[in-house]
Order: sequence, then C-alpha cells, then structure tokens
Amino acid sequence: MAFPENFLWGGAVAANQCEGAYNEDGKGLCTQDVTPHGIVGPRTEEPTEDNMKLVGIDFYHRYKEDVKLFAEMGFKVFRTSIAWSRIFPNGDEETPNEKGLQFYDDLFDECHKYGIEPLVTISHYETPLHLAKTYDGWVNRKMIGFYERYVRTIFARYGKKVKYWLTFNEINSVLHEPFLSGGIYTDKDKLSQQDLYQAIHHELVASALATKIGHEMMPDAKIGCMILSMPTYPLTPCPDDVIKTMESVHKNDFFGDVHVRGYYPGYMKRYFRENNIEIKFEPGDEEILKNTVDFVSFSYYMSICETADPEKRVGGKGNIMGGVPNPYLEASEWGWQIDPKGLRYVLNYYWDRYQKPLFIVENGLGAVDKLVEKDGVLTVEDDYRIDYLQKHLLQVEEAVKDGVDVMGYTSWGCIDLVSASTAELKKRYGYIYVDRNDDGTGTLNRYKKKSFYWYKDVIATNGESL
Ligand code: BG6
Repeated sequence: MAFPENFLWGGAVAANQCEGAYNEDGKGLCTQDVTPHGIVGPRTEEPTEDNMKLVGIDFYHRYKEDVKLFAEMGFKVFRTSIAWSRIFPNGDEETPNEKGLQFYDDLFDECHKYGIEPLVTISHYETPLHLAKTYDGWVNRKMIGFYERYVRTIFARYGKKVKYWLTFNEINSVLHEPFLSGGIYTDKDKLSQQDLYQAIHHELVASALATKIGHEMMPDAKIGCMILSMPTYPLTPCPDDVIKTMESVHKNDFFGDVHVRGYYPGYMKRYFRENNIEIKFEPGDEEILKNTVDFVSFSYYMSICETADPEKRVGGKGNIMGGVPNPYLEASEWGWQIDPKGLRYVLNYYWDRYQKPLFIVENGLGAVDKLVEKDGVLTVEDDYRIDYLQKHLLQVEEAVKDGVDVMGYTSWGCIDLVSASTAELKKRYGYIYVDRNDDGTGTLNRYKKKSFYWYKDVIATNGESL
C-alpha cells in the first residue's frame, strides 16, 4: 500500500467562492464583492448583480447538506477559508462580529459530527474591502496589526476545533494579482516593485507572526504556508533558457524559502539590489520570520515553460501566472495545460528543498458539465474529471514511493463553486453538481456526479482502487 495509513483525503473550497450571503449577519464587503469578472474584468465601486459570488452556491445556508455529502464520500478533511470580513466587517475595528464567529463554530461542529477535520485558510483572496480602499491592502504595514487581531480572535475561538491552519492562500500570486491576492487597491500597472515587495514583506512577517501566535495559543496545531505551485521547465536546453527558468522559479521559491528557512534568500537580496528595491525591516522582523511553518501546502493545476527568447515569450491562456505553453502538453477548455507528472516532480522538488511534510490542498479540472438523467436520477457523466484526477493521484503515489512525506490531498472545488480567475459557475470542479447558472438561474439543488462514487472508492480503499 503506497498511501500512508493516516493520509488526509478530502476536498477544498474558499468562503468567497461558495458561501454567498455576502451581506448577511453583519458581514462587511470584501474584495471579491467588487470583482464580478474575477481577474479578467474591471472591479466595480459597489457589488453588482452580475457578480456570481454574492450568492455563490449558498453554502452559508446549505452547509449541513453539503458536509453530509462530503461525509458520504468519506472525507477525512475539509479545507475551507474564514471570510475575514464576516469576523471583522471593516477589518480595522476592535471587536469581532459575533454572528460571523458563530457561523464557523457551527460549520466546524458539523464537520466534527462526521469525523471530518477542518483545514482552515485564514486569508483566501477575500481581504475586507475597507482595508483595500483605505490602506491599500498589504502595502501598508498596519495590515500586520489588523491581521494579528483577526488571527488571535479565530485562534482563541476555534483553537479546540481546528488543528490545521494555512496563513495565506497562494501567497506568491500577489506577484501577478495584487488586488485579488493582497488587497492592493492601486492599479497593477501603477504599482511599483518597491511597494509590491514591501507588501510581500508585510505578508511574510504577518504569516510568521500567525505561526508564532498559533504555536503559543494552540500547541497541538499544525500551521502551514500555501503556495501556488507551477513547475516551470526550460523551453529548450539552451543554457540561457535554463538560467531564465531558474530566475523565474526563484521568484516563487522566495515565498516558501522564507516560510521554511526563516530568512531572506541571497538570490532575492541580489534582485532587490539590482532593481533599487529597499525592503524596510522594522526592529524585530528578522526574529519574527524565524517562526517557520510545520508543513508546506500548495495548489497544483498545471506546469509552464520559460524562455530567454522574447519572441517565444507568449503568455499561456487564462491562468494567474502566465507562462509559455509546453508543446508536449494538452490543455483544458480554459487553456490550463494538463501535466500529471508535474505533480510528482513538484512534490519531489519541494521535499528535496524543504524536508517538510507536504499537503496538496488544491488540484482538479475545471470543465463544463452536463446534467443528464440516468436510471431516473440526475447526474453528470464526468469521466474526463475522473481521468484527470486519477492520473494526478497516481503521480502522488509515485512521489510517496520516492519517499516524499505527503500528508494529504484535498481536490479543489469538491462541490461546484464560482471560479476565482473568471468568476464563472460553468467552470466546474466538483464531485457534486450545483444547479446554478451564470445568468443566475437554477434551483441550487445538489446532484452527485459519477466522480462522487469514484472518489468515495478511492478514499475507502486508501488509494488502492486507483
Ligand atoms: C487557485 C485558487 O488559484 O485556483 C482558487 O486558490 C481557485 O481560489 C483555483 O478557484 C482554481 O482557479 P479557477 O480560476 O479555475 O477558479
């Protein structure tokens, strides 16, 4: 048997993509409430009706039904995020919103009812809008204090219910999507590298501080970082391409390196020097950064290529990171190149680099699904999804055989939800179909897809059925 006995099988979602109820029970607005088209469209001043996230899949009201379905699949773990603006509606107030706190109490209790361990992302692309507008998000050092108050509040409240925590979702994505990822209101093309990297410094300090506080307040908790992983291959064996690839990989490794090693790597110091970037460290920052994580988690959807040749540097389609397409790979309907072996590669890469337990907290195929009737029951025959997941999980198995310490696997969007990049519902990832369409129609009823039964089997056999 390749998968370890206590392997944490499950699924993942984020509050802003599924909960809906965007203004209920005292919730404040967050950055997602004004981005009706995800990263591809402009943001709005106020929430607008075409924003699918305002209702999401109504998880806020239907979580009991959904957790029951997760339990039926045999989930050991369920990854979700806490919407910061449910707890602190503006982000900078002193007192939390009790109704928001109560919701997550109820949700985590519901998980435990079925023996499902919650895995909680503290900040998943949903910065309170007031913090973005008033402080320019993480560019402002005050964010560390607001985040600290928020984490102290949720650690105190849920410390006995939540063992696994992630500080920031895909923390490195701020390089490409400063508003979505870092609540930075300044337009991307006007944001200086100086401000961007200072914002990153604030997030890294806040993340290490959360780890420190978490360890003090919850000695049994495991706190991890979360990185958008995208293995990057040189487009050719030309040494210029290889070096260019190394430099581009460094830009992302910077985040994991600080989280795991507790200090800034030399290659970044060089980059700062050569680009006139001066990171302002406050007294104590260096000490705080030494609070390193217990495990490294990451998302994995695709790989990309890199080249030094400007003529060949055509960006990939539809993903956050861009990147040069790999001529050997096929792509999903959204242009994300499918590379199961890249998952074995990246698991080995992180293990070799960090020697820390690894957790795959996102992976999956976004596809258009069709609800059909089979034996009198509505379902989706999603063999393409099963094929994608099967191939990726077989590569996880290979990595386990390679000796990599893998804690668990939570596939993305275990129930259909609103896409982060394009804010559509027709890009579906789930084992559970949600009847809601991009024009807002639909009953919001849930239906089990073919992959539901497939995954149930995988979990029940601890991966033997793959
Ligand atoms: C990751 C995010 O980037 O990818 C998720 O952490 C997101 O929030 C997922 O949903 C898949 O991306 P998309 O754009 O297909 O929803």
